[in-house]
Amino acid sequence: MNIQKFLKNKIKKICIKYNIPNNFDPIIRKNTKNNEIDYQVNGIIKLKKKIPYSSYQLAINISKDMKKSNIYENILVPPQGFINITLKSNWLCEHINNMYFAKNFNISIKNPKIIIIDYSSPNIAKDMHVGHLRSTILGDVTARLMEFLGHTVIRQNHIGDWGTQFGMLITQLQLTSCHSIEKIEKIYKIANLRYQKDPVFIKKTKKNVVKLQNNNKDCLKIWKLLVSKSIEKNNIIYKKLNISLTDKDIRGESFYNFMLPKIITELKKKKIAVNYNGSIIVYLNKFKNRLGKKMGVVIQKKDGAFLYTTIDIACLKYRCNILKANRIIYYIDNRQKQHLLQVWEIAKLAQYIPNNTLLEHHTFGMILCKNKKPFKTRHGKTIKLIDLLNKSIDKAKKIIKNKHQKMTKNEIKSIAHNIGIGAIKYFDLSKNRTSDYIFDWDQILSLNGNTAPYIQYAYTRIQSIINHDNLSHEINIYPIKIFTKFERYLVLTILQFEETIFHLEKYGTPHLMCNYLYDLAGKFSKFYENCSILFAKKIHIKISRIKLSILTAKVIKKGLYILGINTVKKM
Ligand code: ARG
Repeated sequence: MNIQKFLKNKIKKICIKYNIPNNFDPIIRKNTKNNEIDYQVNGIIKLKKKIPYSSYQLAINISKDMKKSNIYENILVPPQGFINITLKSNWLCEHINNMYFAKNFNISIKNPKIIIIDYSSPNIAKDMHVGHLRSTILGDVTARLMEFLGHTVIRQNHIGDWGTQFGMLITQLQLTSCHSIEKIEKIYKIANLRYQKDPVFIKKTKKNVVKLQNNNKDCLKIWKLLVSKSIEKNNIIYKKLNISLTDKDIRGESFYNFMLPKIITELKKKKIAVNYNGSIIVYLNKFKNRLGKKMGVVIQKKDGAFLYTTIDIACLKYRCNILKANRIIYYIDNRQKQHLLQVWEIAKLAQYIPNNTLLEHHTFGMILCKNKKPFKTRHGKTIKLIDLLNKSIDKAKKIIKNKHQKMTKNEIKSIAHNIGIGAIKYFDLSKNRTSDYIFDWDQILSLNGNTAPYIQYAYTRIQSIINHDNLSHEINIYPIKIFTKFERYLVLTILQFEETIFHLEKYGTPHLMCNYLYDLAGKFSKFYENCSILFAKKIHIKISRIKLSILTAKVIKKGLYILGINTVKKM
């Protein structure tokens, strides 16, 4: 049950009676401040100029109409002109019982779409560092969520496997006649240094880039080896992080090489690109350079080499024409905003994008140290992602070992893995993705507050209640009912799972799911402290409460699954 959507539609219908323009979109907010009110209708004030009476009067009129329906316990209109709604417990019960038996909690969509999610997408030949964490896990949440809803999800790991850095690596490997590429990262560093000051090296590198782009056999052979080694390394991280990307989802920059010459010809033919001093450039009206003139975007260099932009234009064309995307979501660093907007603009001018295809850049903030500087090692070096993950798992291991001295090594290993990884992911996902956040080990693994361990612990506690009882045949006889206010709060919160899911679908904001799960775990805790479950005096109460516990656990598990976090049996 998407209560917000349900209420919105009801109010919109009433508004039509009062000649309110039908594009009026009432805002339905769940109420978090006052336990006696479930939802608040906002936005009526904005209609002030469109009606011949006050917006307060309109709110009163709407509320009178609402009162004819029997789903509201209470409807109040404070002088500020919004409407406070309390739903009837019977109505909540009807829906919670439906949800209990429904497949997928009765959550579905009418129009499944083809959604492409461009995420993680590291430049390979270098180890993934902490800066890759956000793109990787945020994108993965969206992929899981869209799939849960029934959309067709196409994951695209747009790895940086092409361009100058490979020219450098190939040149270095040719010069040293070294065939072992186990230490790619080291070789890359040496090559990079030489590229900064050695003119001969630079020249050779540039030649190799063009050779590679023209499918030269020798260059391709070295390149393939470099790429496969590097992917192997990244896969270790994906596995550890419980990321749903596989090798099938890799469609790196190199893939689009075959399209590039034609893109240039097409853009020239359509008079979008021009030749300037041997380079091919697109001048964009919408972007201004430092002198306030049309900005020129180079899509092919004098030496024939294509650029990152050219590849992204081809990639967008491919995603629209071949993959038939309805919506494309990019999880890329904010610093590439301009690049992306330019790519979109050029592709639009070239008519590569159908009108109804949505393009979105889901930006994210930076991870900072306690001193608010970028998160680095004590010596100022970038932190390797693998090291960060291992450290978290080690910390979790220590905590669990201390708590459970009799646990087997394997058990500790598996639990520590799920706790350590869950904690890092959740800490990140619980922050609004557009803001920077401070990485703090003390908070990440804390059992108190809005953290993964807190939610995972709540889950294990519910499991221990459910597992204590064997009531399978009676479960179907008695429905979930509300006997106390604690059950009412819990029922309402469980029902709010669906609206949370749809917020994520629209805005890609996992922190709302974290807040939701935190709220749910808290409501369960209050219910557990104040209501007897297994020792309830009457069987129908006991069953109702056990069912409520089962449903809470199911929702927590699914919510965590969408966040890419595993539950554990013991903690
Ligand atoms: N490889 C790029 C980087 O590490 C990110 C690629 C994002 N995707 C894209 N279609 N450009 O910065």
